[in-house]
Amino acid sequence: MSRTKSIKDVDLSGKRVFVRCDFNVPLTDGQISDDSRIVAALPTIKHLVAQGAKVILSSHLGRPKGEPNAAFSLAPVAEALAAQLGQPVTFIEDCIGEEVEAEVAKLAEGEVALLENVRFYKGETDNDPEFAASLAKLADAFVNDAFGTAHRAHASTAGVAKHLSPCVCGLLIEKELAYLGDKTNTPERPLTVILGGAKVSDKIKVIDALLEKADTIIIGGAMAYTFKLAKGETVGDSLSEPDFIETAKAAFKKAEEKGVKFLIPVDTLTVKDLDFGAGTVGDTKVFEGSIGEGWEGVDIGPKSIELFSNEVKNAKTVLWNGPMGIFEIDACNKGTFAVAKTIADSDACSIIGGGDSVKAIKMAGYGDQVTFMSTGGGASLEFLEGKELPGVSALDTI
Ligand code: 3PG
Repeated sequence: MSRTKSIKDVDLSGKRVFVRCDFNVPLTDGQISDDSRIVAALPTIKHLVAQGAKVILSSHLGRPKGEPNAAFSLAPVAEALAAQLGQPVTFIEDCIGEEVEAEVAKLAEGEVALLENVRFYKGETDNDPEFAASLAKLADAFVNDAFGTAHRAHASTAGVAKHLSPCVCGLLIEKELAYLGDKTNTPERPLTVILGGAKVSDKIKVIDALLEKADTIIIGGAMAYTFKLAKGETVGDSLSEPDFIETAKAAFKKAEEKGVKFLIPVDTLTVKDLDFGAGTVGDTKVFEGSIGEGWEGVDIGPKSIELFSNEVKNAKTVLWNGPMGIFEIDACNKGTFAVAKTIADSDACSIIGGGDSVKAIKMAGYGDQVTFMSTGGGASLEFLEGKELPGVSALDTI
């Protein structure tokens, strides 16, 4: 079977290398509040520097709608990156054009430059061939290491590949594909998958794909309420999708046919007067089975925590995507944090599927006690669904 070529398969010494990273980091008052994506890009950049490549980094930041906007400048990233790398990073205030070409031409082997946000041009998200050609003019070879953006067919993630050679993945994408792909496709068993989040409609394709691989699937978060409806239980004022009851029933049926243990919460923490903005709740009550009129489910209950934790303890591979409740509010975070702790305590290969689950495991203080945390939100979901990622399929295979 073929695989995506990586920087380990090629020699890029002396070459001008266009490296697409995902430096879409959260900024608060112009300061980077979480540098995980910068840290995750370091191995590839260091590898290229050590090899003597001329490293031209590129990324998007936010969604600036195709025009320059200082609030979305990558300048703070260049500074943070230079500190992490321990070497200067030349920040180039544009990403295409003669001036950029002249700046890039000054790079010596082992030197690093970061281009300004590619989404300052509409051609980026349109995957405009002309814009892609202008980016490609800067380099000889293409390295895509932007896993978080690999589900987008944009000029800098896919379009440039038509003009450059070789086109390979970086060490981050290689690792993401290994954990979200190989380790869940041929897992050490039992493989327990924990899925949470708000909507069945957002996750049904992932559930369907994972029903082919997992030994146990655990459902938490608000999407569990639609599964409760499918079982004939009531859910009070909880968020649910009645239009997806049949979909939920089909998932129960498929699980039975495949011999997959399919667990939903046996009890629910519910509240009245939830104020998400203020982070407060009014009265609370735990219901077993059906939820009473006027109560809103916000977390799994204590019996579900025990049930789910026991499953995790017996697993050899655990994949977690999506919180068990509204973990951003203290009163509703016990289920999510308990799952995070059980995963952190377990000896299983633990893979955290990006987005909110990564945020939750870090908030719970166990970010350094898991085997792998994906840097992709939407990308990791689409990959787990079994979809082809344009930023990966544009690359050479071996
Ligand atoms: C992300 O943060 O999920 C990626 O950087 C992709 O960003 P986008 O959803 O704006 O394309």
